[in-house]
Parts: sequence; structure tokens; C-alpha cells
Amino acid sequence: MVNGSLMLTIAVLGGTGKEGKGLAYRWAKAGYRVLIGSRSSEKAIKAASEIIQLLEGSSSVVGTTNLEAAQQAEIIVLTVPYAGHRETLEDVKDALKGKLFVDVTVPLVPPKVSKVQMPAAGSAAQEAREILGEDVEVVAAFQNISHELLLDEEEIECDVLVTGTSKKARAEVLTLVEAAGLTGWDAGPIENSVVVEGLTSVLIYINKQYGSTYAGIKITGAQHQ
Ligand SMILES: NC(=O)c1ccc[n+]([C@@H]2O[C@H](COP(=O)([O-])OP(=O)(O)OC[C@H]3O[C@@H](n4cnc5c(N)ncnc54)[C@H](OP(=O)(O)O)[C@@H]3O)[C@@H](O)[C@H]2O)c1
Repeated sequence: MVNGSLMLTIAVLGGTGKEGKGLAYRWAKAGYRVLIGSRSSEKAIKAASEIIQLLEGSSSVVGTTNLEAAQQAEIIVLTVPYAGHRETLEDVKDALKGKLFVDVTVPLVPPKVSKVQMPAAGSAAQEAREILGEDVEVVAAFQNISHELLLDEEEIECDVLVTGTSKKARAEVLTLVEAAGLTGWDAGPIENSVVVEGLTSVLIYINKQYGSTYAGIKITGAQHQ
């Protein structure tokens, strides 16, 4: 149980990769049923078994294709490079109707990943909103959390700014942030995702400038009620 409600199933599309695997690990550890999605079910099954090993067998993590994962979950999280963002969403969009979609994508344009280069829609999350339509709640989160921290047991200092298409959807994702052991803030409407996604390039620049690998941000002057 989380916050008194039955555990939901979370699909992590691209969950075979660095960021997705880390988030999947944290949610599985919190007791959620997690589906790892991939373009290759073999790759997804391997990633799922790696997470189960990390959790010493005591979890419900299953690997499958991106589409099957999206069909079977109530919450769908996308963690693919921006180059695969649109194509992945087009492939699964019918399975997302009426569900909650969480976009972790940062619209980085290699090789200049430390320079903010936002897409015409404003942000990757707003582009997702255009592709998925009004039937899907779109929330953007976790863009500033380095994957290096997610498989670690150390406390994560970096906060998570959550923007999205409704207050209710943002509140649901704030529950997932908390379940992952992180501090989240309702950072307002989906339009505000422009700043949060763009901030990732600023953090990458700071990492390069100061020799760090997981620079982050912390909200000061506010308290959770
Ligand atoms: N890494 C971080 O620290 C971090 C932090 C915050 C946000 N992010 C964002 O999270 C997203 C994922 O980052 P990542 O570092 O986890 O990426 P990644 O490891 O390079 O890729 C994640 C997964 O995406 C799938 N993928 C790769 N290219 C694709 C394509 N062209 N089309 C569809 N799927 C593709 C692959 O899964 P399959 O081959 O199994 O399909 C891969 O395992 C990015 O948008 C990134 O900006 C990353």
C-alpha cells in the first residue's frame, strides 16, 4: 500500500537504460509492480532480472516490450533519449488513453548537451502532450536527477520539480517521487517544464566546469505543509 491506496503498476519505457533502471529499482523497492519496457523483450527481461538481483529476489519486476508494458500499467514513465521520444510515443499512444504519463526526457541535442536547445513545442513534455492529446495527463519529472544516484543507497540531495497538466496528476507523481526516496515540489503547469528540462543542460555544464558528475538543485525558503 502507498498512501492508503493499492499499489499501482508502473511501466518504465526505455527502462533498460541508465535513468529508467534506477527509477524502476527504487519503485520496485518501495513495493510497486514495475514493468520494464524496451524495443527488445529479451533486453527488458535481462534488465528486470538485474533489478530483482539487486533487491535480492523480493520484488515484482517484469521485462517486456514498450507496448505491452504501456498496455498493462496504470502509470507510464518514459526514459528514452530525446532522439527516440516521438517514435516511442507514437508506438504506444493508443495504450495511454485515460492514463497518467510521466515524461523524464530531456531534449538534449548532442553533441552540445550543456547548451539549452528546446524543441518547437517548448519542451519534450509539451511535445508529448501534443502527440498524446487531451485524454492523457502528462507530468514532467526527474529530469535533474542523475542516474548515478538512483542505484545508490545514499540520501539524494537534489530535489524533483514536478510540472504537469493538472494538480491531481502532479500530486500522484509527487507520491511516486516520495516512494523513490526523493523530495518533490509541485512546480506548476506543464508550460513550466521548459525551465526544468532546460535546467538539466545547466547542471551538465556545471558538472563539466567543476569536475562533478551529479550536480543538482535544492529548493530553499519553502516547506512542505
Ligand atoms: N542518465 C541520466 O542521468 C538522466 C538524468 C535525468 C534525465 N535523463 C533523461 O532520461 C532519458 C533516458 O536517459 P538515459 O541516460 O537512461 O538513456 P540511455 O541509457 O541512453 O537510453 C535509455 C533507453 O532508451 C532506449 N533507446 C535508446 N535509443 C532509442 C531510440 N532512438 N528510440 C527508442 N528507444 C531508444 C534504449 O532501450 P531499448 O534499447 O531497450 O529499447 C535504452 O536502454 C533521456 O531523455 C535523458 O535525457 C537522464
